[in-house]
Amino acid sequence: MASNTAKTMQLLHLGSMLNLFPVLLLISFGFVLGKIGSATFSPESYLPNFRALSPTPASKKACVKLPTFMESGRLTASSGGPMHNMTDEELLWRASMEPRRSTQVSTVPKVAFLFLVQGALPLWPLWEIFFNGQDKELYSIYVHASPGYTDLAPKESVFYGRLIPSQGTKWGDMNLVDAERRLLATALLDLGNARFALFSESCIPLLGFPAVYAHLTGGSNTNVIFVDSYPIKERHDPFFADRNISLAQWRKGSQWFEMDRTTAVEVVAEERWYAVFRGDHGMLNMEEHYLPTLVTLLRWGARCKNRTLTYVDWSTRREHPRSFPEKDITAELLEGMRQGDGKCGYKYHGDDDGASEVEFCHLFARKFSKDALTKLIQLAPELWLV
Ligand SMILES: *[C@@H]1O[C@H](CO)[C@@H](O)[C@H](O)[C@H]1NC(C)=O
Ligand SMILES: *[C@@H]1O[C@H](CO)[C@@H](O)[C@H](O)[C@H]1NC(C)=O
Ligand SMILES: *[C@@H]1O[C@H](CO)[C@@H](O)[C@H](O)[C@H]1NC(C)=O
Repeated sequence: MASNTAKTMQLLHLGSMLNLFPVLLLISFGFVLGKIGSATFSPESYLPNFRALSPTPASKKACVKLPTFMESGRLTASSGGPMHNMTDEELLWRASMEPRRSTQVSTVPKVAFLFLVQGALPLWPLWEIFFNGQDKELYSIYVHASPGYTDLAPKESVFYGRLIPSQGTKWGDMNLVDAERRLLATALLDLGNARFALFSESCIPLLGFPAVYAHLTGGSNTNVIFVDSYPIKERHDPFFADRNISLAQWRKGSQWFEMDRTTAVEVVAEERWYAVFRGDHGMLNMEEHYLPTLVTLLRWGARCKNRTLTYVDWSTRREHPRSFPEKDITAELLEGMRQGDGKCGYKYHGDDDGASEVEFCHLFARKFSKDALTKLIQLAPELWLV
């Protein structure tokens, strides 16, 4: 157990290196087993840091089950996966023709996890634990990253080969919406995908996979979508009013959506309003308005909860939401995030007799920096059990 925990700690640290360097997998005795990528990398620059890590006390209750590949140390460069040669236009056109229902009647619905990131996922070891041991028929993963980034996930990783053809994105730019549509369109090509959820590199799951899956695909939620959408005056330029988007229709909201297949097809097929938002209005942050305003423009009211499932803290009232570094992470903090005000109406009965019934507001949360990974791996998997 102690050596397992030490191994965990090393892997945590490894995870935090991944977004900076080509993949380098170290196992517990510190051997460098493999290296891929074109940049040169010196293990020495990494090892002092690595040794400085203090091991978790062996008495720590949470026994994190690591995916087996993380212990095996095997590495392979990736290829294949959701890659294609279509232009955006061809991709969106093709995806807009996709059936609005997941048509693989013989199979259970899949949840598509869409990651919109710059490069590697700093928190990937946590997600790896989240997906570890789950039925691969229940989910699919798509990663949109900077074009220069090449997929370096180890072969046994759930992120292996899941990079999609991507283009550059920039904070506040409409090209973030393009990336979202690219992710949705690519995921729509898999007829098994029934639900689509968007994540950034700073997002984490607050519940275990079975609970997340049950919530997103379960009975009353199959036709419900979670697109954050609230009325606001901000950025409603005359440009929009002139193009038939009234102030009454104007909405704002967090980008991190969760939606069904019907809505995903509508998003990739939508051209009229997209062209307006793309237009020459000189406004930034349209990614916070486009989907939220589609709720009124395309009349999603009956199916939309107008809120996101991804917790975020805007209480600091700055341009960016609060980011949670390692020192802030406690079990209570994470529990508080998923409980919200407790009035979100989501009851999870757990695997047992239902005695653990709780109401949750959020299934996911942001923003967590990569230095929070160690703490998150200690706390989150235990939290996920409830
Ligand atoms: C893309 O096109 C190239 C050249 O035509 C081809 O070799 C490659 O296999 C294609 N890739 C995919 C994913 O279709
Ligand atoms: C706005 O809506 C009116 C009425 O439906 C229509 O006649 C007009 O062409 C629209 N204008 C734009 C710019 O779409
Ligand atoms: C969400 O917003 C739309 C449009 O403003 C509205 O029609 C709908 O009733 C709202 N849904 C909920 C659950 O509040």
